[in-house]
Amino acid sequence: MPIIGIDIEKCTNCLLCIKECPTSNLIMNEEEGRVSFSSSRPCITCGHCISICPQNAIIYKGLKDEVLSFEGIQDPNKSISYETMYQFMRAKRSIRQYKKDKIPKEVLEKILDSMRYAPTGSNIRQMKCFIISDTEKIKTLSESIVNAWQTTMTGEYSEVLENKRKMGIDPIFYKAPHVIILYSNRSSPSNYMNAAIAMTYGMFCAQTLGLGTCWIGLAFIIFTSNQDIRKEIARIPGEVLGIMTIGYPSAKYYRAPPRPPLRTKGFS
Ligand SMILES: Cc1cc2nc3c(=O)[nH]c(=O)nc-3n(C[C@H](O)[C@H](O)[C@H](O)COP(=O)(O)O)c2cc1C
Repeated sequence: MPIIGIDIEKCTNCLLCIKECPTSNLIMNEEEGRVSFSSSRPCITCGHCISICPQNAIIYKGLKDEVLSFEGIQDPNKSISYETMYQFMRAKRSIRQYKKDKIPKEVLEKILDSMRYAPTGSNIRQMKCFIISDTEKIKTLSESIVNAWQTTMTGEYSEVLENKRKMGIDPIFYKAPHVIILYSNRSSPSNYMNAAIAMTYGMFCAQTLGLGTCWIGLAFIIFTSNQDIRKEIARIPGEVLGIMTIGYPSAKYYRAPPRPPLRTKGFS
Protein backbone atom coordinates (compact mmCIF):
# COMPACT_ATOMS: atom_id res chain seq x y z
CA MET A 1 0.00 0.00 0.00
CA PRO A 2 1.78 3.20 -1.09
CA ILE A 3 -0.02 5.36 1.49
CA ILE A 4 1.37 4.13 4.79
CA GLY A 5 -0.03 6.47 7.38
CA ILE A 6 0.05 9.91 8.90
CA ASP A 7 2.93 11.68 10.56
CA ILE A 8 1.26 12.57 13.86
CA GLU A 9 3.96 15.11 14.65
CA LYS A 10 2.85 17.14 11.64
CA CYS A 11 -0.91 16.39 11.48
CA THR A 12 -3.18 19.09 12.95
CA ASN A 13 -6.40 17.06 12.56
CA CYS A 14 -7.80 19.63 10.12
CA LEU A 15 -9.86 16.80 8.51
CA LEU A 16 -9.23 18.03 4.95
CA CYS A 17 -7.90 14.61 3.95
CA ILE A 18 -10.98 12.86 5.34
CA LYS A 19 -13.27 15.11 3.29
CA GLU A 20 -11.12 14.64 0.21
CA CYS A 21 -10.52 10.87 0.18
CA PRO A 22 -12.84 9.30 -2.45
CA THR A 23 -12.61 5.85 -0.85
CA SER A 24 -12.86 6.82 2.85
CA ASN A 25 -9.48 5.38 3.69
CA LEU A 26 -8.78 8.36 5.91
CA ILE A 27 -10.88 8.21 9.00
CA MET A 28 -11.26 9.81 12.41
CA ASN A 29 -9.91 7.33 14.89
CA GLU A 30 -12.20 8.09 17.81
CA GLU A 31 -10.16 6.05 20.29
CA GLU A 32 -6.96 7.92 19.55
CA GLY A 33 -8.74 11.19 18.83
CA ARG A 34 -6.87 11.76 15.58
CA VAL A 35 -6.99 11.17 11.86
CA SER A 36 -5.59 7.86 10.71
CA PHE A 37 -5.20 5.88 7.52
CA SER A 38 -7.26 2.70 7.28
CA SER A 39 -6.28 0.01 4.81
CA SER A 40 -9.48 -1.96 5.43
CA ARG A 41 -10.77 -0.97 2.01
CA PRO A 42 -8.75 -0.56 -1.23
CA CYS A 43 -7.02 2.80 -1.61
CA ILE A 44 -7.01 3.93 -5.25
CA THR A 45 -3.72 5.79 -4.71
CA CYS A 46 -5.09 8.99 -6.20
CA GLY A 47 -2.75 10.91 -3.91
CA HIS A 48 -5.29 13.62 -3.11
CA CYS A 49 -4.42 13.31 0.57
CA ILE A 50 -0.79 14.10 -0.31
CA SER A 51 -1.90 17.08 -2.39
CA ILE A 52 -4.33 18.58 0.07
CA CYS A 53 -2.49 18.20 3.37
CA PRO A 54 -1.23 21.68 4.38
CA GLN A 55 1.27 20.04 6.76
CA ASN A 56 2.64 17.47 4.29
CA ALA A 57 1.82 14.84 6.91
CA ILE A 58 0.91 11.91 4.67
CA ILE A 59 3.54 9.17 4.69
CA TYR A 60 3.85 7.16 1.47
CA LYS A 61 6.34 5.09 -0.45
CA GLY A 62 6.76 3.45 -3.84
CA LEU A 63 4.52 5.81 -5.81
CA LYS A 64 6.88 5.51 -8.81
CA ASP A 65 6.92 9.26 -9.40
CA GLU A 66 8.03 12.43 -7.67
CA VAL A 67 5.53 14.65 -5.87
CA LEU A 68 5.50 18.09 -7.52
CA SER A 69 5.62 20.82 -4.90
CA PHE A 70 3.98 24.20 -5.52
CA GLU A 71 5.69 25.78 -2.55
CA GLY A 72 7.00 29.26 -3.21
CA ILE A 73 5.63 29.47 -6.75
CA GLN A 74 2.58 31.14 -8.24
CA ASP A 75 -0.63 29.07 -8.04
CA PRO A 76 -0.27 26.87 -11.16
CA ASN A 77 -4.04 26.82 -11.59
CA LYS A 78 -3.82 30.48 -12.50
CA SER A 79 -0.77 30.27 -14.76
CA ILE A 80 -2.88 30.29 -17.95
CA SER A 81 -5.66 32.84 -18.40
CA TYR A 82 -9.04 31.79 -19.76
CA GLU A 83 -8.46 33.98 -22.83
CA THR A 84 -5.09 32.36 -23.59
CA MET A 85 -6.46 28.87 -23.06
CA TYR A 86 -9.55 29.57 -25.16
CA GLN A 87 -7.52 30.89 -28.08
CA PHE A 88 -5.06 28.00 -27.80
CA MET A 89 -7.86 25.43 -27.84
CA ARG A 90 -9.61 27.04 -30.76
CA ALA A 91 -6.35 27.15 -32.66
CA LYS A 92 -5.92 23.40 -32.32
CA ARG A 93 -6.57 21.62 -35.61
CA SER A 94 -6.55 17.98 -36.51
CA ILE A 95 -3.41 17.89 -38.64
CA ARG A 96 -3.46 16.06 -41.95
CA GLN A 97 -0.33 17.51 -43.56
CA TYR A 98 3.03 16.77 -42.00
CA LYS A 99 6.68 17.50 -42.60
CA LYS A 100 8.86 14.42 -42.95
CA ASP A 101 11.02 15.33 -39.93
CA LYS A 102 11.02 12.86 -37.06
CA ILE A 103 10.36 14.23 -33.59
CA PRO A 104 13.39 14.09 -31.28
CA LYS A 105 13.01 11.41 -28.60
CA GLU A 106 13.19 13.91 -25.74
CA VAL A 107 10.32 15.90 -27.27
CA LEU A 108 8.16 12.78 -27.71
CA GLU A 109 8.93 11.88 -24.12
CA LYS A 110 7.52 15.20 -22.96
CA ILE A 111 4.23 14.43 -24.70
CA LEU A 112 4.02 10.93 -23.28
CA ASP A 113 4.86 12.34 -19.87
CA SER A 114 1.90 14.74 -20.06
CA MET A 115 -0.44 11.83 -20.78
CA ARG A 116 0.43 10.24 -17.44
CA TYR A 117 -1.31 13.06 -15.63
CA ALA A 118 -4.71 12.66 -17.26
CA PRO A 119 -7.52 11.53 -14.97
CA THR A 120 -8.52 7.87 -15.20
CA GLY A 121 -11.53 5.97 -13.86
CA SER A 122 -10.81 4.92 -10.26
CA ASN A 123 -7.23 6.04 -10.93
CA ILE A 124 -6.60 2.72 -12.72
CA ARG A 125 -3.65 3.14 -15.07
CA GLN A 126 -3.43 0.10 -17.28
CA MET A 127 -2.73 1.88 -20.55
CA LYS A 128 0.41 1.18 -22.48
CA CYS A 129 1.86 3.06 -25.39
CA PHE A 130 3.10 1.79 -28.73
CA ILE A 131 4.85 4.18 -31.11
CA ILE A 132 5.42 3.43 -34.79
CA SER A 133 8.12 5.63 -36.32
CA ASP A 134 9.29 3.51 -39.22
CA THR A 135 8.07 5.26 -42.38
CA GLU A 136 7.78 2.00 -44.33
CA LYS A 137 5.86 0.32 -41.55
CA ILE A 138 3.43 3.24 -41.32
CA LYS A 139 2.93 3.05 -45.09
CA THR A 140 2.35 -0.72 -45.07
CA LEU A 141 -0.06 -0.41 -42.18
CA SER A 142 -1.97 2.37 -43.86
CA GLU A 143 -2.31 0.31 -47.05
CA SER A 144 -3.54 -2.71 -45.09
CA ILE A 145 -6.12 -0.56 -43.32
CA VAL A 146 -7.37 0.92 -46.60
CA ASN A 147 -7.58 -2.55 -48.17
CA ALA A 148 -9.43 -3.93 -45.14
CA TRP A 149 -11.78 -0.99 -45.27
CA GLN A 150 -12.50 -1.50 -48.96
CA THR A 151 -13.29 -5.17 -48.48
CA THR A 152 -15.24 -5.09 -45.22
CA MET A 153 -16.88 -1.68 -44.99
CA THR A 154 -19.53 -0.28 -47.21
CA GLY A 155 -20.51 3.31 -47.81
CA GLU A 156 -19.13 6.41 -49.37
CA TYR A 157 -15.99 6.49 -47.24
CA SER A 158 -14.44 3.76 -49.37
CA GLU A 159 -14.62 6.14 -52.32
CA VAL A 160 -13.03 8.96 -50.32
CA LEU A 161 -10.13 6.70 -49.35
CA GLU A 162 -9.67 5.57 -52.94
CA ASN A 163 -9.70 9.14 -54.27
CA LYS A 164 -7.11 10.23 -51.75
CA ARG A 165 -4.94 7.22 -52.47
CA LYS A 166 -5.03 8.03 -56.20
CA MET A 167 -3.85 11.55 -55.38
CA GLY A 168 -0.82 10.10 -53.56
CA ILE A 169 -2.22 10.99 -50.14
CA ASP A 170 -1.97 8.50 -47.30
CA PRO A 171 -5.64 8.65 -46.26
CA ILE A 172 -5.10 6.98 -42.90
CA PHE A 173 -1.92 8.35 -41.34
CA TYR A 174 -1.27 11.27 -43.73
CA LYS A 175 2.42 10.33 -43.97
CA ALA A 176 2.89 11.43 -40.38
CA PRO A 177 6.36 10.61 -39.04
CA HIS A 178 4.94 8.84 -35.97
CA VAL A 179 1.78 7.03 -34.96
CA ILE A 180 1.00 6.77 -31.26
CA ILE A 181 -1.24 3.92 -30.16
CA LEU A 182 -2.61 3.45 -26.68
CA TYR A 183 -3.50 -0.12 -25.84
CA SER A 184 -4.11 -2.36 -22.87
CA ASN A 185 -3.62 -6.03 -22.05
CA ARG A 186 -6.43 -5.90 -19.54
CA SER A 187 -10.07 -5.11 -20.16
CA SER A 188 -11.73 -2.39 -18.13
CA PRO A 189 -14.96 -0.50 -18.89
CA SER A 190 -13.25 2.87 -18.57
CA ASN A 191 -10.19 2.01 -20.71
CA TYR A 192 -11.47 3.80 -23.82
CA MET A 193 -12.42 6.94 -21.98
CA ASN A 194 -9.12 6.94 -20.13
CA ALA A 195 -7.28 6.67 -23.43
CA ALA A 196 -9.31 9.44 -25.03
CA ILE A 197 -8.56 11.83 -22.20
CA ALA A 198 -4.87 10.88 -22.07
CA MET A 199 -4.57 11.40 -25.83
CA THR A 200 -6.21 14.80 -25.50
CA TYR A 201 -3.69 15.79 -22.84
CA GLY A 202 -0.92 14.68 -25.17
CA MET A 203 -2.43 16.54 -28.09
CA PHE A 204 -2.56 19.85 -26.24
CA CYS A 205 0.94 19.35 -24.91
CA ALA A 206 2.14 18.54 -28.44
CA GLN A 207 0.66 21.81 -29.65
CA THR A 208 2.73 23.80 -27.14
CA LEU A 209 5.82 22.18 -28.71
CA GLY A 210 4.90 23.19 -32.26
CA LEU A 211 3.59 19.74 -33.13
CA GLY A 212 0.32 18.66 -34.71
CA THR A 213 -1.79 15.57 -34.08
CA CYS A 214 -4.88 13.85 -35.41
CA TRP A 215 -7.16 11.21 -33.94
CA ILE A 216 -7.35 8.26 -36.31
CA GLY A 217 -10.73 6.67 -35.76
CA LEU A 218 -10.57 4.87 -39.12
CA ALA A 219 -7.55 2.85 -37.99
CA PHE A 220 -9.25 2.21 -34.66
CA ILE A 221 -12.27 0.69 -36.42
CA ILE A 222 -10.06 -1.64 -38.43
CA PHE A 223 -7.80 -2.57 -35.49
CA THR A 224 -10.80 -3.56 -33.41
CA SER A 225 -12.56 -5.46 -36.20
CA ASN A 226 -9.54 -7.09 -37.83
CA GLN A 227 -7.27 -8.80 -35.31
CA ASP A 228 -4.84 -9.94 -38.02
CA ILE A 229 -3.93 -6.37 -38.90
CA ARG A 230 -3.54 -5.44 -35.25
CA LYS A 231 -1.45 -8.49 -34.37
CA GLU A 232 0.41 -9.43 -37.53
CA ILE A 233 0.99 -6.12 -39.27
CA ALA A 234 0.91 -3.48 -36.55
CA ARG A 235 2.16 -5.97 -33.91
CA ILE A 236 0.24 -4.27 -31.12
CA PRO A 237 0.22 -6.72 -28.21
CA GLY A 238 -3.17 -5.83 -26.74
CA GLU A 239 -6.57 -4.21 -27.17
CA VAL A 240 -6.27 -0.92 -29.05
CA LEU A 241 -7.81 2.03 -27.20
CA GLY A 242 -6.86 5.04 -29.28
CA ILE A 243 -4.62 6.10 -32.14
CA MET A 244 -3.17 9.42 -33.17
CA THR A 245 -0.70 10.68 -35.70
CA ILE A 246 1.91 13.19 -34.60
CA GLY A 247 4.49 15.34 -36.36
CA TYR A 248 5.41 18.85 -37.40
CA PRO A 249 2.56 20.41 -39.41
CA SER A 250 3.53 21.46 -42.93
CA ALA A 251 0.57 23.81 -43.37
CA LYS A 252 -0.41 26.96 -41.53
CA TYR A 253 -3.94 27.78 -40.35
CA TYR A 254 -4.98 31.39 -40.61
CA ARG A 255 -8.24 31.22 -38.70
CA ALA A 256 -10.28 28.93 -36.49
CA PRO A 257 -13.43 27.51 -38.09
CA PRO A 258 -16.81 28.16 -36.47
CA ARG A 259 -18.40 25.44 -34.38
CA PRO A 260 -22.11 25.09 -33.54
CA PRO A 261 -23.23 26.06 -30.05
CA LEU A 262 -23.49 23.39 -27.40
CA ARG A 263 -27.23 22.76 -27.01
CA THR A 264 -27.73 23.19 -23.31
CA LYS A 265 -30.69 22.67 -21.03
CA GLY A 266 -30.90 23.83 -17.45
CA PHE A 267 -29.80 27.47 -17.66
CA SER A 268 -32.30 29.63 -15.83
C1 LIG B 1 -13.00 10.02 -32.24
C2 LIG B 1 -12.39 10.75 -33.42
C3 LIG B 1 -12.02 10.05 -34.54
C4 LIG B 1 -11.43 10.71 -35.63
N1 LIG B 1 -11.01 9.99 -36.69
C5 LIG B 1 -10.38 10.61 -37.71
C6 LIG B 1 -9.84 9.87 -38.81
O1 LIG B 1 -9.87 8.65 -38.85
N2 LIG B 1 -9.23 10.56 -39.80
C7 LIG B 1 -9.13 11.92 -39.79
O2 LIG B 1 -8.58 12.48 -40.70
N3 LIG B 1 -9.64 12.66 -38.76
C8 LIG B 1 -10.24 12.04 -37.73
N4 LIG B 1 -10.71 12.77 -36.66
C9 LIG B 1 -10.57 14.23 -36.66
C10 LIG B 1 -11.92 14.92 -36.90
O3 LIG B 1 -12.29 14.75 -38.24
C11 LIG B 1 -11.77 16.40 -36.52
O4 LIG B 1 -11.61 16.49 -35.13
C12 LIG B 1 -12.95 17.27 -36.93
O5 LIG B 1 -13.10 17.26 -38.32
C13 LIG B 1 -12.82 18.71 -36.44
O6 LIG B 1 -11.62 19.29 -36.86
P1 LIG B 1 -10.61 19.91 -35.78
O7 LIG B 1 -10.17 18.77 -34.89
O8 LIG B 1 -9.47 20.46 -36.57
O9 LIG B 1 -11.34 20.95 -35.01
C14 LIG B 1 -11.27 12.12 -35.58
C15 LIG B 1 -11.65 12.80 -34.43
C16 LIG B 1 -12.17 12.14 -33.35
C17 LIG B 1 -12.51 12.90 -32.12
